[in-house]
Amino acid sequence: MPLVHATGIDKKHQDRLKQSGAIPVHIAVIMDGNGRWAKRRGLPRIAGHNEGVNSVRDIVEACGQLGVQYLTLYAFSTENWKRPKDEVSLLMRLLLRALRDERDRLHQNEVRLKAVGDIDALPSDVREELLKAIEMMRNNTGLTLNLALSYSGRWDLTGAMRRLAQDVRAGVVHPETINEATIAQYLSTREFPDPDLLIRTSGEHRISNFLLWELAYSEMVFADEYWPSFRRKHLYAAVADFQKRERRYGMVSEQVQQPRFAPAQYVERFLKSVAKL
Ligand code: FPP
Repeated sequence: MPLVHATGIDKKHQDRLKQSGAIPVHIAVIMDGNGRWAKRRGLPRIAGHNEGVNSVRDIVEACGQLGVQYLTLYAFSTENWKRPKDEVSLLMRLLLRALRDERDRLHQNEVRLKAVGDIDALPSDVREELLKAIEMMRNNTGLTLNLALSYSGRWDLTGAMRRLAQDVRAGVVHPETINEATIAQYLSTREFPDPDLLIRTSGEHRISNFLLWELAYSEMVFADEYWPSFRRKHLYAAVADFQKRERRYGMVSEQVQQPRFAPAQYVERFLKSVAKL
């Protein structure tokens, strides 16, 4: 349980969401619009990234309180290395500072930190700080916060294909046994369930090389706010939107409305309603 609990009207919003439907187990976020947020205010782009860290803090806390189990944030893509050198360098400094400043607070709130991406490509001080924080939070049991850093979906799929091909050549894997689960096992996201909900901010409607394999059946919510303005009330709106969707996984409505096995959250709600009688 997170140490910082929701209070007042915020708690009411959270309780209402917990009652109105399933809370997504895994939320993935494309945090877009930092530059435009800053430009609108006549500020340098880095000011947008800076304010974006405050949004990260708020969303991480709210997700922990809501009972979201996994939150994957697209913090730096493979393509972001092509940005002007100064911006890349400032982003890396910001990441380093955020890791140092937030580490203890995250740890106290039982957050388990993880990362996916080409971590070796990060500057050594950022990499060391990241690995230190991951190690420190290794045994925490709250929200898993997964940072996608120097990550792209195609980068991950390419690496997975290479490792799989090597295992085929070594005779460890037989081509005829390869199925979807095999491929998923070769991805850097292998330990996480696929996202239930993808949120992209800033009004853009693209996946931008994020979690290409894992988003196959995710619900998508596109929010108009720039990331630095995206706070918990926008998250709650996205989750409420998610709860209205019917996830059919290629089946028909009747099949998914009468599941053979009740998902855990429905069982929990049923038991709670019986307990109230
Ligand atoms: C996209 O906005 C945002 C990024 C490339 C970086 C995101 C980084 C942070 C929010 C800060 C650090 C993160 C953590 C996890 C502490 P953009 O620059 O593409 O905006 P634009 O599309 O308006 O130009």
